[in-house]
Amino acid sequence: MIGEYTSLVTGAAGFIGSHLCERLLREGHCVIGVDAFTDYYPRAVKEANLAGLRAASEFRFVEMDLARADLGRIAAEVDFIFHQAGQPGVRASWGKEFDQYLGHNIRATQLLLEAVKGSARLRRLVFASSSSVYGQTENLPLREDSLPRPYSPYGVTKLAAEQLCSLYHVNHGVPTVSLRYFTVYGPRQRPDMSFHRFTQAALEDRSIVVYGDGEQTRDFTYVADAVEANWLALGPRASGQVFNIGGGSRESVNQVLASLEEIVGKPIRRELRPPQPGDVRHTWADTTRAREVLGFCPRISLREGLARQVEWLQRSWGKASS
Ligand code: UGA
Repeated sequence: MIGEYTSLVTGAAGFIGSHLCERLLREGHCVIGVDAFTDYYPRAVKEANLAGLRAASEFRFVEMDLARADLGRIAAEVDFIFHQAGQPGVRASWGKEFDQYLGHNIRATQLLLEAVKGSARLRRLVFASSSSVYGQTENLPLREDSLPRPYSPYGVTKLAAEQLCSLYHVNHGVPTVSLRYFTVYGPRQRPDMSFHRFTQAALEDRSIVVYGDGEQTRDFTYVADAVEANWLALGPRASGQVFNIGGGSRESVNQVLASLEEIVGKPIRRELRPPQPGDVRHTWADTTRAREVLGFCPRISLREGLARQVEWLQRSWGKASS
């Protein structure tokens, strides 16, 4: 590897992680990607995310579970860490599944922070946090200084990991930044997430499931904008801070479905189910801090991003069904 900087991306085979690796390679970084291939969704999907990366000479892939590996050696080799790995999914985090969230979100983050705490080389550790740290509130838009009160076990583990980053910053000088992503979408979106499910069902002429009345809103964020935020988080003023990363396209599930029907050119049949435990009613990011400190400015509108995701799924669906 000959690039000037070396970046470690955890969760490199995932949705956001794989896009981020590609961006870092374009910026001239050497990239070490790690992933444990947890079984939250099929390995084949993650392998497809990695396919282009594996061909790049400046990319090295290591399959490992952060909660079990010896991270010392790898941590000493890197200038930047983008910690994207974790057990995702708000609605799936109840019951016995919670152990997965504890291990992959809290324990893995603590081990990573321990491994880097004495590193003289590390310039930044960017942690993938979540809008789910805020919980159920009428106090919108959400600001970083609002009291976080997660509404799902998943949100609790994301908040705990974020707090670990902040306290390793304060006590040990680890240069951490946490990015609170707001419902990220786009090509390679995880198969359990709404846009992926809705589009896949529309392409296969199946009905979709809507939880609640569909009037819940999300501040949807296109994946390239989330990746750009990671890049901007390397800037000198970001260290030790937490930022909302929202796409600036707040819409209800019903509004998204109306756009999707226009894009695919046919009506989408819906089955209504009760609201799911852990799902908040609304998210809406106040991104003033990210704009002022990082220069963050989301560029892709919901309509444009949704069309790109549909096009990507049509291509993958075409491949799968041919
Ligand atoms: C997403 C991610 O899955 C989390 O990992 C992330 O941390 C979180 O965003 C965040 O912003 O913090 P979520 O907002 O639930 O979580 O994302 P979607 O799966 O796209 O769901 C959006 C809305 O659609 C929710 O209200 C959900 O109940 C609804 N939905 C989802 C349905 O009505 N039907 C479905 O089949 C799936």
